[in-house]
Amino acid sequence: MTQQPIENYLKQMTLEEKIDQLLQLAVPFFEGARTEGEITGPMQELGVSEETVRNTGSVLGLSGAQEAINVQQAHLKKNRLGIPLLMMADIIHGFKTIFPVPLAIGCSWDLSLAERSAEIAAREAAVSGVHVTFAPMVDLVRDPRWGRVMESTGEDPYLNSEFARAFVRGFQGRDLRNDTSRVAACVKHFAAYGAAEGGRDYNTVDMSEWRLRETYLPAYKAALEEGCEMVMASFNTVDGIPATGNRRLLRQLLREEWGFNGVIISDWGAVKELIPHGAAADEKEAARRSIEAGIDIEMMTTCYMKHLAELVKTGVVEEKRIDEAVLRILQLKEKLGLFDNPYRGADPEREAEIVFCEEHRAASRELATKSCVLLKNEGVLPLRRDQSIALIGPFAQSGDILGPWSWQGSTEAAVRLYDGLVAKAGASRIVVAEGCGIEEADDRRLEEAVAAAAGADVIVLALGESSEMSGEAGSRGDIRLPQAQLALIERLAELGKPMAAVLFNGRPLDLHGVADRVGAVLEAWFPGSEGGHAIADLLYGDVQPSGRLSMSFPYAAGQIPVYYNHFNTGRPKGAPDAQIRYVSQYLDMPNEPLFPFGFGLSYTTFMYSEPELSATVMTPEQPLTIKVNVTNTGSAAAEETVQLYIRDIAGDVVRPVKELKGFRKILLQPGETQEVTFEITEAQLRYHHSDLTYSSDAGEFVAFVGPNSRDAAGVRFILQK
Ligand code: GLC
Repeated sequence: MTQQPIENYLKQMTLEEKIDQLLQLAVPFFEGARTEGEITGPMQELGVSEETVRNTGSVLGLSGAQEAINVQQAHLKKNRLGIPLLMMADIIHGFKTIFPVPLAIGCSWDLSLAERSAEIAAREAAVSGVHVTFAPMVDLVRDPRWGRVMESTGEDPYLNSEFARAFVRGFQGRDLRNDTSRVAACVKHFAAYGAAEGGRDYNTVDMSEWRLRETYLPAYKAALEEGCEMVMASFNTVDGIPATGNRRLLRQLLREEWGFNGVIISDWGAVKELIPHGAAADEKEAARRSIEAGIDIEMMTTCYMKHLAELVKTGVVEEKRIDEAVLRILQLKEKLGLFDNPYRGADPEREAEIVFCEEHRAASRELATKSCVLLKNEGVLPLRRDQSIALIGPFAQSGDILGPWSWQGSTEAAVRLYDGLVAKAGASRIVVAEGCGIEEADDRRLEEAVAAAAGADVIVLALGESSEMSGEAGSRGDIRLPQAQLALIERLAELGKPMAAVLFNGRPLDLHGVADRVGAVLEAWFPGSEGGHAIADLLYGDVQPSGRLSMSFPYAAGQIPVYYNHFNTGRPKGAPDAQIRYVSQYLDMPNEPLFPFGFGLSYTTFMYSEPELSATVMTPEQPLTIKVNVTNTGSAAAEETVQLYIRDIAGDVVRPVKELKGFRKILLQPGETQEVTFEITEAQLRYHHSDLTYSSDAGEFVAFVGPNSRDAAGVRFILQK
């Protein structure tokens, strides 16, 4: 039972109490906490008094049902009006049952499993006392040097939008108040954080408003259309102004134009970062700009706490701004049912039962098998159970396969690749050696590995990046595998044995020295708690590889950004009248990525018929259908992801050479043919014009259907209006 309408709380609060409600602090500030919780940014001296902590609105990074109950209890005893704390944390790809990293989930193209992964993450987090997760992260990414690409589902606005919706549905369910096994979602990082210059984290973002709206904003908008409760502003600048203090971005676009009425939170320390950005002279100006822009909660700095009262008293900031922000926070607490039940889902007994339970781990294993992408296979895979295997590399027995943002996950409990292979084929068939560290070469270990490999039928390499090498503040300028691992491959290649590489990493890599030296490459990303089992399922062919890249693998870092939905240029390479020199190209490498968006192999082969249109002319009232027959021409039942792309031949502004507009996953038995049909509607042909209006133009288009963005066959049609 709600004691009183939340507006009454607002009426009773002093200005100071209101301002403290806007503050979010990490766990170490709170009484009752036994751990440090999750620390994801710089801990500064904040000068927070006991009184402020008593009035604080939310906690960051707390978990564990008992600890959540203790902290809430202690807080309610001290808070004058008995306003409960909101508990927020980063539950990005699982809580204790860790799922593959989001970029890997993107490669599954499986929206229902993605939704289920978020639902399970929510269930485990909610029972451990979390109310809000700082997810989904839906930043569109085109630069694999940026360590945070692993948090996104990839480079495509449509695919990212579909995943954004699926994650929000999974986290929030339909009724946050009554379904206490769900958590509120917070879409981030608004906006365009994925476009940091040079792929260097926190760096400048600068793009036209047209590109922002056309390419970068759709996924955030999709999350909000699905009912996402919160938004986190990004660290970067947008049009020269840090997002946190960007009135046009937050107040005009997000609030007024899109009608978003939920809570907007800053990122960690980002309000104060307006100062080093050069957008505020001091904390007071940072506070003014942020509240005016629309930031309701200041995370982990205290510009609001120190300066808002004075800004209100001197008439610089209207008190109305503070009231609106407080009301939104109280409304979210009310929506989560916290005024009636401040402990909400937190339940130590149930926590012990369901967290990391068999059912959740099975779901993680299933999603991991769908997320790995077979990039190359020249007859090395699948392995046979009668083959002797040398498993070599720094990831052979490593538990560092959960990836960044798995602070509650246990690397100890993660299923290692060695254990996964042994479970399939027995320990007697598998020898194992490290060969080198992730970055350290070591002659002794190298020779041990060579000796181990010499007697085996097949070498399986377990290579990659440590989880520290991607994620936040994990940018790299050189995205090849570390030299020590390249040297290991080179040395083992001398044995002339069949080699398959399994890669654990958080970004598309430059695979020079890998893809050209081994017969098979399975991109496993950071596969999560059940990684070893999932990969073994795939290596032995018990499950067919079905992942398809949601982000291009560059040929080399010099091409970056390289993405499939680029423009054609006025001098495209390969045009019938192209000259040899004066075309848009590199002299020393191809324009194309090594592995394009949508690409992935199976152990079977698929054949596509030429796509057929239901008519060659369509109108807004009369959509078209396009149909292909897909045949499994190999000998194993497998899933194929049939992809629909469209190109608009001429527009008011130039249009990408291809844009994903639909996809369908189908399961085909050997020899089976299925007809796959997509509808093409006028709505799918709309885009942002130069005046930023959104509509379609009459004219010519090409529809492509195929297995990936490179190999899809096209047919022309006309839109008549
Ligand atoms: C960070 C991140 C953000 C995260 C927040 C809270 O520094 O950029 O994604 O949600 O801190 O942990």
